[in-house]
Amino acid sequence: MKPQNASGHKTGLPFSAQVIPLQNGRFFGKSNLLMLKLGVNIDHIATLREARYRGLGRGEPDPVEAARLCEAAGCHGITAHLREDRRHIQDRDIWKLRETIKTRLNLEMANAPEIVAIALKLKPEIVCVVPERRLEVTTEGGLDVIAAEKSLTETRKKMNDAGIEVSLFIAPDEKQIEASARVGSQFIELHTGRFAEEFLNAEPAAPNAELSRLIAGAKLAHGLGLKVNAGHGLNYENLPALFAVPHLVELNIGHSIVSRAVMTGLSAAVKDMLGAMKGYRGNS
Ligand code: PXP
Repeated sequence: MKPQNASGHKTGLPFSAQVIPLQNGRFFGKSNLLMLKLGVNIDHIATLREARYRGLGRGEPDPVEAARLCEAAGCHGITAHLREDRRHIQDRDIWKLRETIKTRLNLEMANAPEIVAIALKLKPEIVCVVPERRLEVTTEGGLDVIAAEKSLTETRKKMNDAGIEVSLFIAPDEKQIEASARVGSQFIELHTGRFAEEFLNAEPAAPNAELSRLIAGAKLAHGLGLKVNAGHGLNYENLPALFAVPHLVELNIGHSIVSRAVMTGLSAAVKDMLGAMKGYRGNS
């Protein structure tokens, strides 16, 4: 059978991203056909809310409601980053997310004592440890696992003892991947920011050097027994190129999904407002 995607269209996708439709409309992968999982990063919903309602403890759009919608649409997990500066996701969000999420909560976090303590109480299914710099717009680089190997190993042990899996957000760098294996994390998340930048700036057919690094990094990590996720800057255009990377389990994607949601939802939102305005009965 010719491989098809979930909507039944023939695809030029690599085998790892393909699924076989069953009679009953469900899909399965043969043992060598693994479907990519999607974790939706909902920080951007909270960023929009905080732009208007910062400090008020309420407001729209609500990231928890967004998580519900993402799950109803079929995503495999929800990712949220409780930053030390609480610039988007707030503590109340994270606890409500924990109550609400039915798939898998991936808590992005700095390896900072306050946040580690919250994670141990919260018990997300997985934490992804990321570097944090207050002045960055979003997580810019990967973790320096080599420099923080001892404290990351301690955090990894605490998390695992509490039944929480651990992922480390790193650049596709051989030494960082080897250090991640020594730390004992279950996953790494390969930073695809550079790949996305290169994709944007290069001629369409030009080789993407960062893609080659991602491929080599994923192979090395897999060989060391690490499970491999990827994320940052992924969008509807650059995604097919990423399919060249083997062994991927899950992609964490936020900005492009939320951006598309704004555009695909705007027409309905304007129509709803026009509908609401019809109730006005004024004098001319
Ligand atoms: N993965 C990690 C570790 C991140 O820090 C981010 C950004 O918050 C993402 C994935 C998602 O990136 P984007 O919003 O560009 O899709």
